[in-house]
Amino acid sequence: MSRINDQHSASRALPPLAQDRFDVGDTADSLDRLVAAAAAGDDLFRIHAPGRGADTWITNNPADIKRVLVTNHRNYTKGIGLDRIKILLGNGIMTSEGDLWRRQRRMIQPCFHRRATEQFGAMIEGCIAAQIPVWETHAASGTSLDVTAQMSELTLSVILRAIFGTDLEWFNERLGASPFAMVAEESARDLQFAYRFRQLTRQVAELIEIRRQRGTEQFDFLDMLIGARDKGSGEPMPERVLIDEVMTLIVAGHETTASALNWTWYLLAHNASADARLAAEVASIPADGVLSFADAEALTYTQAVIKEALRLYPPGWVLTRRTLEADVLSGFEVPAGTDVMFSPYLIQRHPRYWQDPERFDPDRFLGAAAAERDPWTYIPFAAGPRHCVGENFSMYEMTVHLARMARRWRMEYLFEGPLEIEAAINLRTRGSLHMRLIPRH
Ligand code: HEM
Repeated sequence: MSRINDQHSASRALPPLAQDRFDVGDTADSLDRLVAAAAAGDDLFRIHAPGRGADTWITNNPADIKRVLVTNHRNYTKGIGLDRIKILLGNGIMTSEGDLWRRQRRMIQPCFHRRATEQFGAMIEGCIAAQIPVWETHAASGTSLDVTAQMSELTLSVILRAIFGTDLEWFNERLGASPFAMVAEESARDLQFAYRFRQLTRQVAELIEIRRQRGTEQFDFLDMLIGARDKGSGEPMPERVLIDEVMTLIVAGHETTASALNWTWYLLAHNASADARLAAEVASIPADGVLSFADAEALTYTQAVIKEALRLYPPGWVLTRRTLEADVLSGFEVPAGTDVMFSPYLIQRHPRYWQDPERFDPDRFLGAAAAERDPWTYIPFAAGPRHCVGENFSMYEMTVHLARMARRWRMEYLFEGPLEIEAAINLRTRGSLHMRLIPRH
């Protein structure tokens, strides 16, 4: 653990305290209030959190973000944001700390290597293709498509197939319907949802037992997790941890990706020139077959569209940490045990670092503009040792989906005015996004 960094001259004074008092993340209007508090332009400020009886320190400074996530990451635990999420996810890789997290991360990371991700290509294409008839029907009849519901359904089917492979049918046959449908059907992420979601662990445990007895290999995350061994001890994951990892991947892989795609379609419907450039790029992809990881990466404009959507509407809109020992951020001494937060939403729209920050402009992610930017001003997948393990997987999935669908249709937004933002665990649209599909040809 590092002591206070002497190279920075730490001020004994406290950073400014916002007039507003609220527990960031615990109130429905947290994002608006956070934006208002940050408007004063301070690099570091405090918001008193009455529920916790303490101040939350908010940094909006790229140098601090780098320090917390990378240079001095060992001095930080994940802190308060996790209490609610732990009820949902148990002690999986998203919520664990210390040695357990390190061991689990080492065992899980190989599941997300580029080569492994690419092997899911045919499955991802299959899930995308399964939605095409639905979209065709809506396009032909001119009825609106509930894009939010479609994105939720798509990303849930992709992550479930990635985890359970063909055994997904086993659940459906045994129970008459997919027990996981509730994840897409229920939008609240409250205690009741957490309780019902945790009930699914029994089914997952049963399937793990069947897999063990069956002994044959198949390509999916569950097999990889069952087969993973700790490098040091050679031990597999304990059963409870394994189940928590499965539950974690379902939640982490589903809603984040669904929100990102939902916002992407919303932004495209409002930006005709970006939509036209996207259509021109994806017109060249082969109509059939499987786009490889490299094919997806070669769709540079498509990926820039997604990155720009993730800049404006990062699903993980606030990241929370807690100091173990004192540290120095923006020249202020931060005591041990302090809740430190920063927001991808704030830093990715900060007028000091982004020109015309509210404007949707995928060119920010192409050529010199991208190369010259301070990387700590763009953190939709976080960074450092705890960065999103599913980044490549989700970028691949999102790119293939956008390429396949934008090749056939553009979307027309059906309502006046902008959609409202709902900043819950993830940044979502409040209510569903309804669009009319217009065939390209
Ligand atoms: C657009 C899609 C996604 C976004 C924006 C996103 C964002 C993030 C962010 C910001 C974190 C860091 C949270 C923190 O440090 O407090 C994170 C962690 C994580 N993500 Fe993602 N994520 C996405 C998709 C996925 C997918 C598809 C998966 C899995 C299939 C996944 C699995 C995870 C896991 C397991 C962690 C915890 C890693 C650790 O603590 O070691 N994510 N994600």
